[in-house]
Amino acid sequence: MKPSYQRRTVAMGDVHCQWTCGPDALRDFFAMVSPNAEATGRRFGDIASGTLVVVTDENVDRLHGLELPPGVPRIVVPPGESSKTLGWLAEVLRLMLDAGLDRAGTVIAFGGGVVGDLAGFAAATFMRGVRWVNVPTTLLAMVDASIGGKTGVDVDGAKNLAGAFHPPAAIVADPTVLATLPAAERADGMAEAVKQAIIGSPGLFGRLERGAFEDAEDIAAAAQVKIEIVERDPFERGERAVLNLGHTVGHGVETASGYRLSHGHAVAVGLVAETRLAERLHLAHPGLADRIAGVLGQHGLSTRTALVAADVRAGMTSDKKRLGGRLRFALPRAVGDVVYGVEVEEPVVMAVLEESLQE
Ligand SMILES: NC(=O)c1ccc[n+]([C@@H]2O[C@H](COP(=O)([O-])OP(=O)(O)OC[C@H]3O[C@@H](n4cnc5c(N)ncnc54)[C@H](O)[C@@H]3O)[C@@H](O)[C@H]2O)c1
Ligand SMILES: [Zn+2]
Repeated sequence: MKPSYQRRTVAMGDVHCQWTCGPDALRDFFAMVSPNAEATGRRFGDIASGTLVVVTDENVDRLHGLELPPGVPRIVVPPGESSKTLGWLAEVLRLMLDAGLDRAGTVIAFGGGVVGDLAGFAAATFMRGVRWVNVPTTLLAMVDASIGGKTGVDVDGAKNLAGAFHPPAAIVADPTVLATLPAAERADGMAEAVKQAIIGSPGLFGRLERGAFEDAEDIAAAAQVKIEIVERDPFERGERAVLNLGHTVGHGVETASGYRLSHGHAVAVGLVAETRLAERLHLAHPGLADRIAGVLGQHGLSTRTALVAADVRAGMTSDKKRLGGRLRFALPRAVGDVVYGVEVEEPVVMAVLEESLQE
């Protein structure tokens, strides 16, 4: 039977990562790596050999643990960002050693972006680096975090301060696991899917605008946008900056809210504010920001906040200041046409924030 998923090889630096997306991908992958399964056609090739160790979180383990191949050791961390620490990294490394992992083995990350970042970084550092496979279980991880090879943990609250580029040998994204994902987590992922559509998929944007989003095809469409960018810029030297769309203001919104607003909500606010900025600079035609706000609203994302412009502006600087410069934005000229590195005069930024946040 023809598999119901899409596959392609993603070139990231000198790593060739096998990306698979669609229903049944998970079942076939776990059947292939299962110690007692033979006749599965080895559709996944030789990407997960040697001793296997699964890293997951408590929620994913509770909801989807039975889908894992029996007999494979499992490291289970608490859910959420608070597990992306040096302390948990050390614990995961210790447990990998206890599980018998060696240089020829493979780590399987089974969870959202937190598990992917933590397990991927553990794989990058265990005995100076072992192979890993990323099996994302949130919408955000499927369309965004699993792609691009970035791994890492937070240090004293500084996001992703310690990390490495360590692309997985394979990514296995199966939308059927999203049936259990809470609505708020799904909305967070939708913000990134809308972002990817604006960056590089007018077709996906059109479907989103009509209120449609078919997991089986559209997750792949959103992921493809990022795949193409990271293939051209694997180590974030240039073009990958377009992926910051919505995130410069979004970061300010997240910080100013004291992280009470979710990442997706903050990005939604950021996408609209930054598009208003593009309109003000005559990069984009008037009306684009309203279209984007409409799409976000249709998919459960509010683009309003009660935050004050000055607070958001202050929050935007915290991580950029150290890079020694003025704020640079990725801005849309149209759907499917985003430019990066645009420096904007301070008064223009403030005027747009004041107008955009309070609407
Ligand atoms: N490496 C990258 O390039 C990259 C890019 C973007 C984001 N990230 C990172 O990703 C993280 C956010 O990822 P996230 O939003 O997936 O968060 P997450 O991993 O914390 O998952 C969100 C919540 O959903 C639960 N969950 C996961 N899968 C589920 C399922 N199928 N059903 C029910 N519940 C499920 C988790 O237990 C958790 O409580 C952040 O740490 C961020 O820095 C990394
Ligand atoms: Zn994001």
